[in-house]
Amino acid sequence: MTSSSHNDPEDKDTVTITDNRNQRQVDFRILHSELGPDVIDIQTLYRELGYFTYDPGFTSTGSCDSEITFIDGVQGILLHRGYSIEQLTEQSNFLEVAYLLINGELPSDDQWHRFKHEIETHSMVDEQLIRFYSGFRRDAHPMAIMVGVVGALSAFYHDSLDIHDAEQRHLASMRLIAKMPTIAAMAYKYTIGQPFIYPTNKLSYTENFLKMLFSVPANDYEPNPVLSTALEKIFILHADHEQNASTSTVRLAGSSQANPFACIAAGIASLWGPAHGGANEAVLTMLNQIGSKEHIPEFIARAKDRNDPFRLMGFGHRVYKNHDPRANVLKDSAHAVLKELDAMNQPLFELAMELERIALEDEYFIEKKLFPNVDFYSGIILQAMGFPTSMFTVLFALARTAGWVAQWNEMITSPVHKIGRPRQRYTGHGPRDYVAIDRR
Ligand code: CMC
Repeated sequence: MTSSSHNDPEDKDTVTITDNRNQRQVDFRILHSELGPDVIDIQTLYRELGYFTYDPGFTSTGSCDSEITFIDGVQGILLHRGYSIEQLTEQSNFLEVAYLLINGELPSDDQWHRFKHEIETHSMVDEQLIRFYSGFRRDAHPMAIMVGVVGALSAFYHDSLDIHDAEQRHLASMRLIAKMPTIAAMAYKYTIGQPFIYPTNKLSYTENFLKMLFSVPANDYEPNPVLSTALEKIFILHADHEQNASTSTVRLAGSSQANPFACIAAGIASLWGPAHGGANEAVLTMLNQIGSKEHIPEFIARAKDRNDPFRLMGFGHRVYKNHDPRANVLKDSAHAVLKELDAMNQPLFELAMELERIALEDEYFIEKKLFPNVDFYSGIILQAMGFPTSMFTVLFALARTAGWVAQWNEMITSPVHKIGRPRQRYTGHGPRDYVAIDRR
């Protein structure tokens, strides 16, 4: 039995699976990808052969069609809607990239002004939401606050919860992008016991965020252009990254038709882990743990030891196997920021640069293609700019909200919209009889 392939009379666009156990052969269609590997359509595999596929970590599994972001991990290419991350960080700004991710095209002048105005209109949060913060301990991790407060938005904005209504989806999307800096800055201000600062719409998205974080009512505040440019780049570089853990979490949560605020809160929870968004925080923790240059060889040896769980944080990537294009952009930014802040000679940054040099020359890291990823440099920049490490992942979440919102919208409006429901290989007990507690 064969299934037909598109535009190929000879059925070359199929992959045949031979099931030796049951002496059967079944053809599966190969679907063409615009860029990157084509995919085998195995939706009928279970029906045809009675097997599930087995792919823990989904390293060979495409979970959806997407037109938003393309990554070539071998060449080190990252494109959003076809535009390279290098051009976007050089020529665009974060809000325009958010527009591009959501709408598929760069905005015209008129569209840009309307979008910007819409975001500005939604930058404040409900005053009642502000009281939500006082329920948290002052020493709460700001990501814990983010998960709670973003999830709680669904309790405040009832007019944007209906996922079947395009206008409500749009409103929820605008609210999420617009309010995220305000919510994030409030999480920070709360933990340091300073008053919340309201948004200032005449500033850019990034400058406004810096002001809400670092200004106090008693003083004037002028954003430093070198720092806001570096942060803008960090935001653009983190805006979307295809079907990573947190984006897949947002899609999976959304596939059950959960409301958008709950879905984004789920994404934030997933992003928090040290193997994902928590890595730049982990980089700083690691640098502090290493302490000084003479301890580097000891930690490099630990990273190479299979029996030691220690890994060099900020090195390696699941998808990029030669270089991380985002890291290249940030490496230059890191130097600009350190120069601006006269921090080039600070021991922590000297340590980071020495660690980078040693790891890049080490046979183990070369052979396994482990090079500094985006988090290595973003951690260094954010630390120099005065962000506490606990805020690093919050900034990532803020930026990634643009991608999550775009991916969530794409999923909801896709013609193939099914609840996500992976299967498993069961390895537990076979059926057995219950034993009463006094006989166990
Ligand atoms: N330090 C030491 N060894 C490493 C490291 C590292 N950072 N990363 C991978 N390896 C080794 C790993 O032990 C394995 O060795 P072996 O072949 O002997 O078993 C080999 O390299 C391949 O690693 P892997 O675990 O199969 O690779 P992966 O694709 O599953 O892991 C990763 C990717 C990012 C989870 C991992 O490299 C890592 O834990 N890095 C540190 C954490 C980090 O910086 N994460 C941020 C990723 S970038 C942000 C984002 O896009 O979300």
